[in-house]
Amino acid sequence: MNKKTIWITGGSTGIGRALAIKFSNKGWNVAISARREELLHELENKYENISAFPLDVTDKAKCKEIFEKVKNKYNNIDIVFFSTGTWNPKKEKDIDVEQIEDVFKVNFFGTLNSIKAVEEYFKSRKEGIITIVSSIAGYRGLPNSTGYGPSKSALNNLAESLYFDFKRSNVRICLVSPGFIKTPMTDKNNFKMPFLKSTEYAANKIYDGLINTNNFEIHFPSQLTLILKLLGFLPSKLYFGLIGKLTKYQKKN
Ligand SMILES: NC(=O)c1ccc[n+]([C@@H]2O[C@H](COP(=O)([O-])OP(=O)(O)OC[C@H]3O[C@@H](n4cnc5c(N)ncnc54)[C@H](OP(=O)(O)O)[C@@H]3O)[C@@H](O)[C@H]2O)c1
Repeated sequence: MNKKTIWITGGSTGIGRALAIKFSNKGWNVAISARREELLHELENKYENISAFPLDVTDKAKCKEIFEKVKNKYNNIDIVFFSTGTWNPKKEKDIDVEQIEDVFKVNFFGTLNSIKAVEEYFKSRKEGIITIVSSIAGYRGLPNSTGYGPSKSALNNLAESLYFDFKRSNVRICLVSPGFIKTPMTDKNNFKMPFLKSTEYAANKIYDGLINTNNFEIHFPSQLTLILKLLGFLPSKLYFGLIGKLTKYQKKN
């Protein structure tokens, strides 16, 4: 049994789910984690090579325990893809400290717990890919994003830091920065999302970036991400002016 294996967190819906199906269709073993067991089992029952490993990533010890279970089942883990995330646009307009703590618990510390669980394994294996799903919202500050944007910005910095540390062990750290993808998360948005894409589109881009390139960052769609990257170079005054105008224009009503 020499099949390759990927462990995906956030596998119950959205981008993680679509990526699980993509890898499964490519013949990989796929271990999927998230809290909603029934959604994980639905996928497990439909795809022979997908297995469910329910997990709440805010539980540090559980992250380690579940990764042990994944390892015991498959022996070799080639890629991990940490895609858990939360976003509640209604609560991002004001500074709600408890809400921001909750967002960080999932988006930043949940991802950190998952990375910690695999650290030793990958450092001694001396190959493989650890994937951190961030967002274009992590590039620079955006309006109405008091928790989500900062949590993703912290992930970007963490990924760059880990890049150096894991490179010494020949392990690739990969940062994924999606633009707008239609998922249960973005279905909550009440603004027009430019260049909105499907989860299948995202899964194809991610699969290609992980398997066929050795890049640090996988970002898409480039029509949007390249503009945002250029805006990132602007001095603050120009950046605030342009983003202020663009986001007002994008409001639905
Ligand atoms: N969609 C976009 O436009 C977009 C853009 C940029 C970045 N992203 C990022 O892409 C990632 C996936 O988002 P998505 O759009 O696919 O949204 P989604 O469909 O809402 O997926 C979020 C996933 O995270 C899981 N999750 C949330 N809290 C968890 C926890 N405490 N423990 C374990 N799993 C947890 C959810 O499963 P359970 O609820 O079952 O636990 C679900 O599988 C997120 O990190 C998001 O920030 C998305």
